[in-house]
Amino acid sequence: MISAPVRVINPNAPEKSILDEAAAAIRAGGLVAFPTETVYGLGADALNSRAVARIFAAKGRPSNNPLIVHIANLAGVHRIAAGWPAAAQGVAERFWPGPLTIVLPKHPFIPDLVTAGGPTVAVRMPNHPVALGLLRAAGVPLAAPSANRSGQLSPTTAEHVQRGLGDSVDFILDAGPTRIGLESTVLDLSVSPPRLLRPGHITPPEIEAVIGAIARQESSVSGDKALLSPGMLQRHYSPQTPLECLSASHRRVAELVKSRQRVGWLTHSDSPQAVGKKDVDVVIMPREPRAYAARLYAELHQLDQRRLDRIIVEMPAETDDWLAVRDRLKRASQNE
Ligand code: TXA
Ligand code: MG
Repeated sequence: MISAPVRVINPNAPEKSILDEAAAAIRAGGLVAFPTETVYGLGADALNSRAVARIFAAKGRPSNNPLIVHIANLAGVHRIAAGWPAAAQGVAERFWPGPLTIVLPKHPFIPDLVTAGGPTVAVRMPNHPVALGLLRAAGVPLAAPSANRSGQLSPTTAEHVQRGLGDSVDFILDAGPTRIGLESTVLDLSVSPPRLLRPGHITPPEIEAVIGAIARQESSVSGDKALLSPGMLQRHYSPQTPLECLSASHRRVAELVKSRQRVGWLTHSDSPQAVGKKDVDVVIMPREPRAYAARLYAELHQLDQRRLDRIIVEMPAETDDWLAVRDRLKRASQNE
């Protein structure tokens, strides 16, 4: 595997010389992996179709799956979205910069490749000094999906990016692990009522407190619903190791161990006593949803390195605060 150059950068006070170097690569049509508060993104100049095409090629991403356009301030948003409704202003004031992506009718200025030929565009202002610094230094909006091969786990460290995409990015800005660890909430404001397309750190009740009732996308998606937002495709966000989610996981773990399978076990409610600990890679996860989310991908990436037969995950409760975690776990456990 060829390695992309990695630039270690201060997450709180990013060095200008490093940002300038990355910005120059962006302006030259290159690909730069950079940290956001959610996961690492794979960025290119959103106004340069050739650069955007490189994102799809690097990820092996189907061309019908649109990209998020990242911005550093609201000044240029009218050249990205064709309209800016009161609801957009409301959620932007409340949650930007932050882990909320909003979908609006697209401005013709944005290349069709970015929006996969569709009439809408997804926009987000990330809350990370490195992402914001890169956007300002580049002076263009950045099209950036998560910096992983299509369908695989999103990266929460530069090392994850290196492992998945090291041979196809120009360089990687390494600012350490991301804080939130799960991708942004995606909210469609091009429809009425607004619709939640992907649950995330910002929950439906938090959004509803600002703009009133929103429609929720059920996460038990079937094939055709996936067209609404291809990220809602069933199998997504997956480790290589087969993964199962169960509400009473310890019994399943014990059964697998008995049949001599090598098992990884993510649990937040069980104590590992039920199973001989030496036979299982146990990860005791936080009981608080946001703390759990922050660790989830890092733990799955790590278990994936151990050549296990199976990963078993204790499924969290069906409450709003666990919505995003449950959504990603369900998708990770789909076998094609
Ligand atoms: O936290 C995040 O959102 C990260 C960081 C890097 O910003 N990005 C990210 O991008 O997760 P990506 O491409 O992996 O996921 C974007 C999601 C996909 O599910 C995509 O289908 C959906 O947003 N999406 C993008 N544009 C859309 C549009 N115009 N309409 C509906 N869904 C859209
Ligand atoms: Mg992704």
